[in-house]
This record gives sequence, structure tokens and C-alpha cells, in this order.
Amino acid sequence: MSAHNILVVVGLLAFASYVAYATDPTQLQDFCVGANDPNNALFVNGLFCKNPMDVTPEDFFRGGLDKPGNTHNNLGFNVSLVSATQLPGLNTLGISLARIDYAPYGLNPPHIHPRATEILTVIEGTLYVGFVTSNLPGGGNKFFAKVLDKGDVFVFPQGLIHFQFNVGKIPAIAIAGLSSQNPGTTTIGNAVFGAQPPISIDVLSKAFQLDEKVIEYLQSQFWMSTN
Ligand SMILES: *[C@@H]1O[C@H](CO)[C@@H](O)[C@H](O)[C@H]1NC(C)=O
Repeated sequence: MSAHNILVVVGLLAFASYVAYATDPTQLQDFCVGANDPNNALFVNGLFCKNPMDVTPEDFFRGGLDKPGNTHNNLGFNVSLVSATQLPGLNTLGISLARIDYAPYGLNPPHIHPRATEILTVIEGTLYVGFVTSNLPGGGNKFFAKVLDKGDVFVFPQGLIHFQFNVGKIPAIAIAGLSSQNPGTTTIGNAVFGAQPPISIDVLSKAFQLDEKVIEYLQSQFWMSTN
């Protein structure tokens, strides 16, 4: 291989690794406030943006996070998400925020954010939190967990299964930053046992080493939507 060809290969590899690590696209403009009406919008970088001349401070604003979400549900928790859907000014900016309320012993059940790392701080109460690695080279999955008090910060790396459990006797509050304007959530129980149409009982009973009756039972449960 000539020196020139080697340089081309090295260049391509560098480019490939750049692409592999990229997340939200690099911005092409200061902001691209999401527009619902394409007729009144510009098309930039694959997304509709509101005409900058029509953008107002309200496009970058969302109030109401001082109010607790209603935790009167099966799991005893509630996520108030502020993503590009709730705050159009976040479009293309690669970041979002959530307030999470937990009733005493409330649980934010094991879930994944396919597109975001999450950094969480406890504002009130005590949370037992944890995440599990993807499959390690030798097999197995390592579990990292910690009890967090008010003011503590913990990070859940992108794409890994994680949870938060209120182990205190009082309601807890956390604020989470997420490294995507649209982090997405896959709640493990819902996705596996609550998918519609249902995943075949043969598949689930073999995968989880459970009797088919147990799978039927799990599939018949109510899997609360937890966005
Ligand atoms: C979360 O709280 C909001 C505001 O109180 C409420 O409208 C919503 O139904 C709650 N979600 C769940 C899953 O309980």
C-alpha cells in the first residue's frame, strides 16, 4: 500500500469513528425552534424550523416545574419531561430536562433512554438508584447502585438499564438533565410483557426461564405508560 493510500485509509477510519460517536447533529444555526406548521417554516438539516423572525422568548420557555406530578398510580412516581416536544426551542440543541416525583416507596422502574445519558440530582428525599452494564466480554452484567440523599448527583450512561426507588418515608423529588432533545424511554417491563401485539409466549418463557402460565400472567397485567 502506498503512503498516499495509507493516509486515505487512516482518514476514512478517523471519519468513521467520528460518525460512530456522533449523537445529535451539529447545529447549522443558532437555533431551530420546532414548528408545527410546515407552511410557515424553513426546512433545515432535516427538520422544520420556525422562521427566526417569528421566534419569540416563549419558544424558549416552559413554566410549571415547581408543581409536583401526580404520583397516585401503581408505581408511585411521575415524570414531568421538558423535551423538544414541550419546549420547541430545544429542537436540534441536544439537551432536555425532567422533574421526577416519587411517592414514599415510589419507583421509576428499570428503563433505558436509547438516545441520552442522564445526570440526576436529588432535590428532596432519599433515592436508591442503580444501572446495569451491557454484556461484558467474559459474560455477565455489572450492577452499580447507590443511595442518594438531597444534593447528591448520579449519572446513568446512555442506553443502560437504570431505575430510582424512593426508600424514604417522605415524597422525593429529583431533577434530571438528558443529553438529547428527545431522549426516548424504553421501560423494560412494558416493552417485554406489555408489547402490542404481544411477544410470543414461547419466546418469553424460554428467554426468561419462566413457566408459560407466569408469562400469561405478566402479559395480562397493566403496564402503566411512564413517559
Ligand atoms: C403525572 O402528573 C400529571 C400532572 O399532575 C398528570 O396529568 C399525569 O396523568 C400523571 N401521570 C401519571 C402516569 O400518573
